Amino acid sequence: MTRHLDPDETGLRRAAEMLRRGGLVSFPTETVYGLGGDATDDAAVARIFEAKGRPSFNPLIVHLPDAEAVEAYCVMNDTARRLAATFWPGALTLVLPIRPYAGISKLVTAGLDTLAVRVPDHPLAQALLRETARPIAAPSANPSGRVSPTTVQHVLSGLAGRIEAVLDGGACGVGLESTILDCSGDTPALLRAGGLPAEAIEACLGAPLAPGPVAPASAPSAPGQLVSHYAPRGTVRLDATETEPGETYLGFGALGADLNLSPTGDLVEAASKLFDCLHRLDAMGATRIAVAPIPDHGLGRAINDRLRRAAAPRD
Ligand code: TXA
Ligand code: MG
Repeated sequence: MTRHLDPDETGLRRAAEMLRRGGLVSFPTETVYGLGGDATDDAAVARIFEAKGRPSFNPLIVHLPDAEAVEAYCVMNDTARRLAATFWPGALTLVLPIRPYAGISKLVTAGLDTLAVRVPDHPLAQALLRETARPIAAPSANPSGRVSPTTVQHVLSGLAGRIEAVLDGGACGVGLESTILDCSGDTPALLRAGGLPAEAIEACLGAPLAPGPVAPASAPSAPGQLVSHYAPRGTVRLDATETEPGETYLGFGALGADLNLSPTGDLVEAASKLFDCLHRLDAMGATRIAVAPIPDHGLGRAINDRLRRAAAPRD
């Protein structure tokens, strides 16, 4: 049975107790709901992979309450510190060299010598991290390969009965996963477009970002690069300005539809609604989905990245 915890002191205390005892608790962040477990507890981390049905080569993001806590586990260079000071708490994950003997389960890093860390900008996530006082490993709270959850209903539709509890924080504000930046070397590289637009990072760095490695779907040499991902059950056709017979249309702006990511063409609204729309298409039983073109700047880059993955050929 998965318990539903209210976002009050009792709920937070229960959630923290469960996490400290090795349990799995889904909690809200500003991006998407996370599936949390104690990052220092091998058994808890193993259960995260089991609950998600996730291939074990895919490492996890560790959530911490502030940059100071991050420095206890990772080495931060000047660039990493500047980015952290500018964007944390927020939708930015930094991949950093891990300190040896940091106490993080090897399952979290999948054997890499780097650790992905982030400081979430959500009052419940912050309160939970402080109450638990452990680094919390948390992938998005969806079965592997399926659409990320932005509401408690999404979490339960994929993971009910597989996790101890979900802490209810309503709908997530950003709606897209964090932007992942590899800051372990001399030049930062973008590993995943996400809730923080790449342009904002480039403005902070004063230089364009190098794109990270992209590996084929079958053999992800770099983690987080599975091509087919974030998939609804139906097939997906992109850049569609009109529908073909049998297709359900996911619109944007003036290209109206029953489902529209943002009737006004606002990319922030579209990002926040994307995963909910994909979940809705599943619930409607849509077998063929056509998606309107989305401008490829700002959050549109992350939206298009998720849509391309949703449209990629599947195994
Ligand atoms: O917004 C988010 O980032 C959400 C919330 C819950 O924080 N989390 C999330 O986690 O999206 P997940 O597990 O679905 O995606 C984490 C990504 C994966 O693609 C993984 O391969 C990559 O981060 N990753 C983790 N550790 C890494 C590392 N050391 N080097 C490179 N990529 C890493
Ligand atoms: Mg995910």
